[in-house]
Amino acid sequence: MLNPRFQQLPAHTWTQLRALLDKVPAGRNAPLDLTIGEPRHPMPAFINEVLEANSVGYAKYPPIQGTPAWQQAVAGWLERRYGLPAMDPDQHVLPVSGTREGLFNVAFIAIPDSKSGQRPLVLMPNPFYQCYAAAALAAGAEPFYVPATASTGFLPDFAGLDPAVLARTALIYLCTPANPQGTVADQAYFDSVIGLCRAHDITLVVDECYGEIYPDAPPVGALEACLSMARRGLGDPADPYANVLSFQSLSKRSNVPGLRSGFVAGDPRLIAAYRELRSYAGAPSPLPVYAAAAAAWSDEAHVEENRVLYRAKFDAAERILEGRFGAYRPGGGFYLWLDVGDGEAACRDLWGKAGVRVLPGAYLARPDASGYNPGAAYIRVALVNSLEVTELALHSIRDTLEGGTP
Ligand SMILES: Cc1ncc(COP(=O)(O)O)c(C=O)c1O
Repeated sequence: MLNPRFQQLPAHTWTQLRALLDKVPAGRNAPLDLTIGEPRHPMPAFINEVLEANSVGYAKYPPIQGTPAWQQAVAGWLERRYGLPAMDPDQHVLPVSGTREGLFNVAFIAIPDSKSGQRPLVLMPNPFYQCYAAAALAAGAEPFYVPATASTGFLPDFAGLDPAVLARTALIYLCTPANPQGTVADQAYFDSVIGLCRAHDITLVVDECYGEIYPDAPPVGALEACLSMARRGLGDPADPYANVLSFQSLSKRSNVPGLRSGFVAGDPRLIAAYRELRSYAGAPSPLPVYAAAAAAWSDEAHVEENRVLYRAKFDAAERILEGRFGAYRPGGGFYLWLDVGDGEAACRDLWGKAGVRVLPGAYLARPDASGYNPGAAYIRVALVNSLEVTELALHSIRDTLEGGTP
């Protein structure tokens, strides 16, 4: 027997993309792949060195809460990056084996059987990272998609929802910088959504895995926002992170998506419950991975080099696209979110004529009750390749979609 909850999920993004393109013969530059958000800049050399130096650690079961060196490195980074003083890793932080795993499993600790006497809701932006909907369904809740479109500044308007919806809500997923639009939540937005969560007993899960990829100003973090609220008398100063969890990843920050290393930090009550769940069911990182992760969180030079490479590609995008397809420079992340009218048709054209593979925005979103899919007009373009490949692809995108020679 299969669990019927999962039958409610549509085919995954990548399955849909293969169905769209597999029968289309590739155009002349193939394959230029700008679909997946997998960083392709070199990973720092010290990662391998530290893994090798600690390889004896594969002989041991690793601790759920991380090693003391890992904990210290993460607490140090949280203080440097967000000004969070005195984070006690045992209380406030827990490793995850990549944030996808963490974002999924958090649903099991934060979603009760019912809320306000009904099946709980999990709110998420639309479009969104697909893991959120699967997590909501797995935990027995109903996903509730909140438009994050040009008309809402590409962030979901949670505060504008019907109070009856909020009363049923157990968990909210928020992604900042957002995938795919790159929008960054500011302090005022956090004030509103965190206040809302506390008023309605909702867990706020903030996915900040793109938080280290930004053009100039570092995006405010969820826990930094909590602290600012506490200092302004909003919330309990003895419990500044109440209801809030922030997920952080090395995948994009340090170009090590294969290391599967990140962490969750925030509300000690939720962290304690999460630690229990992971003690039963978690797959903690091997000791050499904790050591490599500690080295990565302790080093900023490679992260700044990374940002320089992304900046050059966004500069190229500005130069080549000149605002066509509504192109804008996002506040964070490494995607272009281009309004091409019909994302699927554009994607087929780009692959068939130019050999450029991008993602139709529709595959990252769900249609509303009227059938309108807020991603349908868009393509997502991941600027993860070298500058040279990115420039070639962007020229091809511009020329193909304008009907010229790709
Ligand atoms: C929005 C978002 N969240 C989470 C993840 C998962 O990252 P990881 O599991 O590598 O930490 C991704 C990966 O692309 C993502 O785009």
